[in-house]
Amino acid sequence: MGTGVIWETDRARIERLGDSGVDPERMAEDVRAGLLSQPKDLSAWPKYFYDERGSELFEDITELPEYYQTRTEASILEARSREIVERTRCRELVELGSGSASKTRVLLDAMASEEVDPFRYVPLDVSESALEGSALKLLEEYPRLRIQGFVGDFEGPLERVFSGGEGEGGGRLVIFLGGTLGNFTPEKRREFLGKLRAGLREGDHLLVGMDLVKDPSVLEAAYDDAKGVTAEFNKNLLRALNEKLGASFDPDLFEHRSVFNREKSRVEMWLHSQVAQKMMVQALGMEVAFEAGEGMRTEISTKFTLESARAMFGEGGFELSELYTDPDDLFGLALGRA
Ligand code: AVJ
Repeated sequence: MGTGVIWETDRARIERLGDSGVDPERMAEDVRAGLLSQPKDLSAWPKYFYDERGSELFEDITELPEYYQTRTEASILEARSREIVERTRCRELVELGSGSASKTRVLLDAMASEEVDPFRYVPLDVSESALEGSALKLLEEYPRLRIQGFVGDFEGPLERVFSGGEGEGGGRLVIFLGGTLGNFTPEKRREFLGKLRAGLREGDHLLVGMDLVKDPSVLEAAYDDAKGVTAEFNKNLLRALNEKLGASFDPDLFEHRSVFNREKSRVEMWLHSQVAQKMMVQALGMEVAFEAGEGMRTEISTKFTLESARAMFGEGGFELSELYTDPDDLFGLALGRA
């Protein structure tokens, strides 16, 4: 792995940002800590859900009737992109976790029609193939666009992602879509926003997708759909542990649950052991025991309000300029100014 240029054309350059992907030793240490905590808790490491199968299952989740988040975020972007571009006067769009850049086009369209100059896109994603594929298409679609892409993990150092561009602050818009920030613990959110703020200049902007507090039954259903796709997604974490760490979890012996934790304002996914059981985790040289009915927390997904979004941005060094929402206040796009 290491760092280096992967490919380069006259308008684009893609390079590797340190090591990307899952490091098995790191994973082993994380999972050890999670299995030793009381209650067992793997929610601090959401990235272990997203192996190939997990990523496919998440794609399926985004199309479920109960999971309103992805389509609602897209509709807000659709409605507000022009306004966001006019307001931020951005010339460079930095996207953390860009994937196939499917939601990005509305913002790039708005930038193109404002005739911003320079017109730059700086995507960061762990998937080299997704990054290359989307970069090639975007270069064709936007003849004036310049792309500086990075293959890497947004949890790592980001200095190089913020090192491009020239001139004074104010031209950069960093976007972090999909509600991923909600998976972070409060400390990690603070640390992450602080890291972004450190890389930005005064007048730069940040746009973050966040799910909003609403009726708990709606929230819980979004994480416990009728078709059982989310249950599969949750249990796939056990399969990933089996594969990557030589564990011997039987996913059928666990039950999927989603609960809204009011006090912490977050949906939690759990896996409850249906029987008393023990299993070996080879890579940890450790046997794990579950009592009958014992639960393990696997994911947290924080739900925000205007107030909590403003407070979080404030702590991270951003002033909340606007919380864009849909007509039903299901989802929010928080725009902040550094
Ligand atoms: C990708 C983090 C936005 O928390 O809603 C979906 C992941 N987990 N269903 C979320 C997820 C279960 C999702 N995010």
